[in-house]
Parts: sequence; structure tokens; C-alpha cells
Amino acid sequence: MHIDATEKKWIYLTFLMTFAGIGVLAAYAIKDNIYPPSNVETIDSAALHLSDEFNEDAIGVRREKDGSIRVTMVAARYGFFPQGITVPVDTPVKIRIASADVLHGIHTVDTNFNTMVVPGYVSEVNTTFKKTGTFPMFCNEYCGLGHDFMWARLTVVPKEKFKL
Ligand code: CUA
Repeated sequence: MHIDATEKKWIYLTFLMTFAGIGVLAAYAIKDNIYPPSNVETIDSAALHLSDEFNEDAIGVRREKDGSIRVTMVAARYGFFPQGITVPVDTPVKIRIASADVLHGIHTVDTNFNTMVVPGYVSEVNTTFKKTGTFPMFCNEYCGLGHDFMWARLTVVPKEKFKL
């Protein structure tokens, strides 16, 4: 089969660009510890308020016995509850979040905290926040007319200033 020289050049270039793209993605995924959410755990989204973990009194920030932080949140049109969380810097944080209605997402720029929140499932992210400051956590899945206004505040404080 005859392939024109120019065409051949472009075929090589296309492969090169594809593998370069995959290489860049892989490098960033490894560097920033990005991984696909893999927690398959079901929950009745219509009854979160009756569950042990996601009821109104149970959600929020807690410290585990091993010193790590556990955050429990609910996503519901159009907000995250609690609306603000405070966690210590450089400390392992486990975030568990469930939707009370439709599909949402939660995302903080410059961190690997980014997950879909699918109704019927508990989303779990393990991360360590490396920078102190106040950051927005945005909903990044279109969930209705109020989607643009759905966000919460993440405050990362120095370890010695963290209190529960
Ligand atoms: Cu919740 Cu978009």
C-alpha cells in the first residue's frame, strides 16, 4: 500500500501528539496524586436525614483516633452542608459526601479534591491539603437553575490553630 510521504509524516505526528498527551496526563496524575473515585458504597439518598452518618447532627468535621480528619457532607440543591468546613494543613483528610437529591460534583481548584456526588452512593476522597487559606468548593455538575450558586467554603488552617 502506498502512503504519501506527507501523509506518513502526519500519521507519525498524530501518534506522537497522542502519546505526549497521555504522558502529560499520567505525569500530572502521579505528581498530584489524582485517582478516580472508586468507593462503591450505596445509601438511600431520600433518607440521609435518618442515616447515622449523614443526619444533621452528624455531618461536619471530626478528628479520628489516629489524628486524621474525617469530614462528612451532604450535597443538596443548591448548597453543601455544612456550608463551611475548617481543616488543618498537612493532615490526612477523609471526605465523605452524599447527595440528597440529584447529581452534583464538588471540586476545589489546585487540589485533588474533585468528585462526582451521585445520588444513591457515598463519594469518598482522601486528601491532604498543603496550603493554608480559604478556598471555594464548587459544584461542577449541572444540577439545576441554582447550580451557579452552589458552593461552600473550605478553610485550611495551620495545625496549631485547628480546634474542634
Ligand atoms: Cu449542584 Cu451543580
